[in-house]
Amino acid sequence: MNAPVFDRAQDAERYEVVSGGYDAALFAAAAIGPQDRVLDIGCGYGATTRQAARLASAGHALGNDLVEPVLEQARAFAAADGIANVAFEAGDAQTHPFRTGAFDVAISRFGVMFFADPVAAFANIRRALRPGGRLAFATVGRPQDNDLPRVIASVMRDRPDPDPAGTRTVHSLADPEHVHDLLTHAGFREVGVSSAETIVELGPDAAAAADFILGWGAFRGIVDETDPAAVADAHAALTDAARPFEAPEGVRLRGTAWLVTATAPPHA
Ligand SMILES: C[S@@+](CC[C@H](N)C(=O)[O-])C[C@H]1O[C@@H](n2cnc3c(N)ncnc32)[C@H](O)[C@@H]1O
Repeated sequence: MNAPVFDRAQDAERYEVVSGGYDAALFAAAAIGPQDRVLDIGCGYGATTRQAARLASAGHALGNDLVEPVLEQARAFAAADGIANVAFEAGDAQTHPFRTGAFDVAISRFGVMFFADPVAAFANIRRALRPGGRLAFATVGRPQDNDLPRVIASVMRDRPDPDPAGTRTVHSLADPEHVHDLLTHAGFREVGVSSAETIVELGPDAAAAADFILGWGAFRGIVDETDPAAVADAHAALTDAARPFEAPEGVRLRGTAWLVTATAPPHA
């Protein structure tokens, strides 16, 4: 079996397949108005940044991410859509010197789960908000309510755990009480958590679902792509793990997220 060919435009589509089902809930929670200045944390290819910029038609949106090549693609997508009130800036959101008080709203779609020090990171994001500014983000829900991480676990099982403390995994913010405490310690107020659900359709059958996962940037590196036997083994394991989710319409996985909202204090 050949290693999957990596293509950023196709990779961006994969993120939409997995995460696009939460956009309506995220943007309802963020309530972006036409004048708003929006910060999108861990924006990846910038689909939510572009959407934020469209809503903030007289304001603007800044997408932040760690990975500059991903932001280059995000800039290209925004330019192709003719969106002028958007920019992308690379940096670690935990420490990046965003301008103090420069944003009305900070949003994130699954980009705030991987901080080394979440309290420091959310405090830095709060500093970037104006007094009374709003935070709204989607984060992965409880492990038992999400099928995709369970399918992916079929190829992660034999690997050393890169994060034994569990603070930088997709489930690091899966406990609402923990999220409430983190945000409160980071100086936010009025923390609210609600649940959003979606169905993620990974392809017509289990083998196609395995192709999807192996070709997806989020899990690039889980297999040694230079070793055809390792790729074939991973493909077989993922196909087996996806098989229980096959339905006549295709492979359908249950996904749940927490929609978290909070506000910065009214006085700096
Ligand atoms: C699961 S992806 C989500 C991407 C995008 N928000 C989306 O929904 O398509 C997580 C993103 O967060 C970024 N990220 C992780 N840690 C970060 C940090 N400390 N500061 C900024 N971005 C970060 C990653 O580079 C990645 O693009």
